[in-house]
Amino acid sequence: MTPVTRPHMATAALLLVLSAVLKVHSAVYRVEPEPTAVLRGQTATIRCSFNSLSPSSIVEWFGPPNSQHISQGTTVAAEYPRHRVVGDTSRGNYELQIRRTRPEDEGMYRCRTFPLPPAPDVKLTVVEPLSGPPDIVGNERPQSAGQGLTLTCRAVGGRPPPRLTWYNGTVPFRLPESAHNTSPQNNEVSLSLAIPFVSRWDNAANFSCRADQGLPTLVEPRTASKILSVQFPPEARVLVTSMRVKAGHSVNLTCVVSSNPPAVVTWQKLGEASVVRGEVRGQSLLISNVQKSDAGVYRCKAENGVLPDGLARTTLDVQYAPDIKATFAEKVVVLYGQDGYSLDCTAEGNPQPIVRWRRKGTNFYLNNPLVLSQVTYDVEGDYACVASGRGFPDVQKETFIDIIGRPDVLGRSGQTLFVTEGTDATLVCEVRSDPRPEVITWLWRDSNGKETIFLGAEEDSVSVREVPMTGGRRSTLVIREVGAGQAGSYVCKATNMFGSDQREFLIEIQDSQVLLITVVTATVLILIVVTVVTVLLVRRNRCHISDQESVASSEPVSKPMPPLPPKHGPMAQAQEKPREMSLELDELDGTLKPRPPPRLDKDPYSIGLSYPRLIHALPAYSVKDQQMKTSDNNSPLDDSGNPVQTREGSGIESWKLTEANSRRPPNYHEIHVLE
Ligand SMILES: *[C@@H]1O[C@H](CO)[C@@H](O)[C@H](O)[C@H]1NC(C)=O
Ligand SMILES: *[C@@H]1O[C@H](CO)[C@@H](O)[C@H](O)[C@H]1NC(C)=O
Ligand SMILES: *[C@@H]1O[C@H](CO)[C@@H](O)[C@H](O)[C@H]1NC(C)=O
Repeated sequence: MTPVTRPHMATAALLLVLSAVLKVHSAVYRVEPEPTAVLRGQTATIRCSFNSLSPSSIVEWFGPPNSQHISQGTTVAAEYPRHRVVGDTSRGNYELQIRRTRPEDEGMYRCRTFPLPPAPDVKLTVVEPLSGPPDIVGNERPQSAGQGLTLTCRAVGGRPPPRLTWYNGTVPFRLPESAHNTSPQNNEVSLSLAIPFVSRWDNAANFSCRADQGLPTLVEPRTASKILSVQFPPEARVLVTSMRVKAGHSVNLTCVVSSNPPAVVTWQKLGEASVVRGEVRGQSLLISNVQKSDAGVYRCKAENGVLPDGLARTTLDVQYAPDIKATFAEKVVVLYGQDGYSLDCTAEGNPQPIVRWRRKGTNFYLNNPLVLSQVTYDVEGDYACVASGRGFPDVQKETFIDIIGRPDVLGRSGQTLFVTEGTDATLVCEVRSDPRPEVITWLWRDSNGKETIFLGAEEDSVSVREVPMTGGRRSTLVIREVGAGQAGSYVCKATNMFGSDQREFLIEIQDSQVLLITVVTATVLILIVVTVVTVLLVRRNRCHISDQESVASSEPVSKPMPPLPPKHGPMAQAQEKPREMSLELDELDGTLKPRPPPRLDKDPYSIGLSYPRLIHALPAYSVKDQQMKTSDNNSPLDDSGNPVQTREGSGIESWKLTEANSRRPPNYHEIHVLE
């Protein structure tokens, strides 16, 4: 211990002794009275208890009115028959009990004992609940949007008077204190809510007024509410501004309307005075089995008596399959040689269909309108106009393009043939024509200018024969064992009602001896120069042709001939025909009879071969189509298997040749042939 602490300890001990002496001689509050609330009619108890109360001490209660003396000890004044002092007095408990509380019991209460200074006065509140919920005045009739509105909430009775609060839904309005109106005479409290102008959004809003007495343990707050009715003009809108539907289906056009009072919806099709087609069900217009004519703009109108009316519009787009108009017949006749013939196809549909052409049996599309430049017989055939609309199957309309006109003699004119003396020369003219040529004639003009006409029949070893072929006729002139004097120009000419066409062949006769010498010389040269086996083969080929002494064409011979057609199909059938015919066919094969042309690259210089001229002007063929056509051309017989026709008639005639319709400038205008 230090000397410094010693006086402190002495002071503490003194205080302890003093407090013990005071405790014995003076009481203290153990429980001071507290503010108390009680429902009217119930029993109220205000607590008050002391410690160290000497037996001689007296506890008193004072209370309303005017802090009168209520009790002394446990003795209660006669004016307070409902008051009692309860509790264990030996333990210092003096609780004031008031039974069947009345409003006049409310006031300030005091509990004290001498000489202790009294505890603060406490208030006893006698609570009287509201007799009912508050009531709301205002908006008895519906308000119109834009108008002002005052709602008043009034609560009558209640102790203490309630505090009122207005709510919009769950959101309280913070109103100024001045809005509160208390009139104690009527025991009434009111609060007014003034809305400068109501909007359509206030319609059906829940405005409530809450009256709260502030004693949640004793009385529940009371609430009144009002659902506002605000009238406003209809507001209409459509769910979809543009509907797309296929013809035949159903459609539901719906107009969504917000209005108070409820609106009546009517539908109208713009631009049409008549009643709209369809069934109106509530705010929807149902159109079943939609037609093309139903397409358009639809307007819904909503009316509820509050102007303006609500309007909304939606567009109905009706889609339907393409429909090809009858702009062309089932058969179209086009003149041969016509340039720029155009066939137009129009189709209607929604969406707008794509219109194209297709030649039947092919897969290629041609543009619409179908334009034929330099019409040839190859163009003839079945065509279809195809209209394709998105979402619908293709629609087509067919037509047969029939080409008519003057004959067309196929092949190049003015070619020279070198024929070895003593061999046969065969000249072939293929004529396409519609109507079929009235006559196909052969004219020979020898080196002296003398002209002879062959009309058929075996005469002077010259024969003319005609066979049908696809789309025309084939005329063949055969000169047997060509003599030296038979050189010259040979012209075949086909004529029908529309005009004529012709083709000229120049025949030059080669001395067989000269040819032989040439061949031998060539062979010797070959033997000298032999170096490569392939070269030898090429030369041998040439020898082979020479040996056969067939008609040489003007073109280089080095080019290998196309393979012979297989001996089946039409050829096989031909072999069963009379022997003469088979011979004829074999002969043709060996000379100028058209070879099966290479499929896509026909040699345009082969003599007497038919090939489509002006290929560029043609609609595209499929490969299959091409094959079909070429095989037709190869057939020595027509489809019906008609035998080769040989025209009767004398070999020499006098005739006049007019070249007006011929494509080539004529070499002569008038020919008179003598017998
Ligand atoms: C009441 O509440 C609604 C919904 O929140 C609101 O649209 C409206 O404006 C409010 N009205 C007033 C007067 O505040
Ligand atoms: C309106 O609001 C009050 C208070 O929130 C509620 O008691 C009352 O049921 C509501 N009224 C309606 C119709 O919703
Ligand atoms: C039409 O459409 C509206 C909106 O989608 C719908 O409420 C209504 O039931 C429909 N009516 C019919 C008959 O389908």
